[in-house]
Amino acid sequence: MIIKTTKDIPASEITDPLVFNKRRQIIKAMLAATLTGAGISPVLANNNESIWADVPKSDFSVDALTPTPAELIKNYTNYYEFSFNKKDATVLAQNITTDPWSIEISGEVEKPGSYYLEDILRQQTLQESIYRFRCVEAWSMVVPWVGFSLGSLLKTVKPLSTARFVKFTATYQPEIMPKQHNHAMLEWPYVESLRIDEAMHPLTILAVGMYGDILPKQNGAPLRLVVPWKYGFKSIKAIVKIELLKRPPITTWNKFAPHEYGFYSNVNPAVAHPRWSQNSERQLGSGFFTPRRQTELFNGYGEQVASLYSGMDLRHFF
Ligand code: MTE
Repeated sequence: MIIKTTKDIPASEITDPLVFNKRRQIIKAMLAATLTGAGISPVLANNNESIWADVPKSDFSVDALTPTPAELIKNYTNYYEFSFNKKDATVLAQNITTDPWSIEISGEVEKPGSYYLEDILRQQTLQESIYRFRCVEAWSMVVPWVGFSLGSLLKTVKPLSTARFVKFTATYQPEIMPKQHNHAMLEWPYVESLRIDEAMHPLTILAVGMYGDILPKQNGAPLRLVVPWKYGFKSIKAIVKIELLKRPPITTWNKFAPHEYGFYSNVNPAVAHPRWSQNSERQLGSGFFTPRRQTELFNGYGEQVASLYSGMDLRHFF
């Protein structure tokens, strides 16, 4: 693989920053126009960076939470296709081309097909969802996502009564994703799955932005899943395929270590990871002396989701 460094790029090919910023504004304006179905947003004409500053709040948004600073969310990422280091994807993920982007939806549905993201967005209502996000590694953050309901998208393709699981597949691009050359540890592409009722739950969203702006590439642009009551690894980034299935599929982390990463992976302080406690979490951005946060069952979303698991032994179905 050839990686071009700035040293190799002739001066004639380097875009003038003014032209670059102008181009970025135009792309944003086009996207905003696509989304609103209207002309170019006046907000953009004023050179305002936040294209989705005015999207309505989701009913599930937890307004009392203080979002983690954007710079921390953008520079501390888990994106194993690129690196096992939390800083590398900030740079490496910029190699992904996110436009055009299409998503194949297939399996147990009446209307399978390949859909351009912009066509999907035209049909969906964007909302801001300020959610807690808890990683299985026992750190957490609060993210103001911009996204739409996964259930609402699934309804447009009409799931059959035989659809019991939803499988999500991330993009496979070994030419720009260095770790995809190595199949010894994780299998590629990255795959995750939800039960159909979890997928249809109104808390479950597909995010296209955060902090009122387009999702940073290292955080999963152009489209990622967000399931706030589950450990973060369920929230798969850069989705290209959604399949509705009769049976649970094999998923990346569950296959890698089934005794460590269960299919459900609901946040649960009472069920320890075999190698560490899940009882508390380090909040990203908190000071050295700030006490750890007590982890909550279902990450604090029990009122909304506990009924999905009534009668289930959460230790067994971890
Ligand atoms: N999706 C893909 N495609 N590849 C990944 O490596 N990492 C997962 C999840 N989704 C991952 C992924 C893990 S382990 C976590 S904790 C979250 O993304 C991290 O999201 P963030 O980097 O935006 O904080």
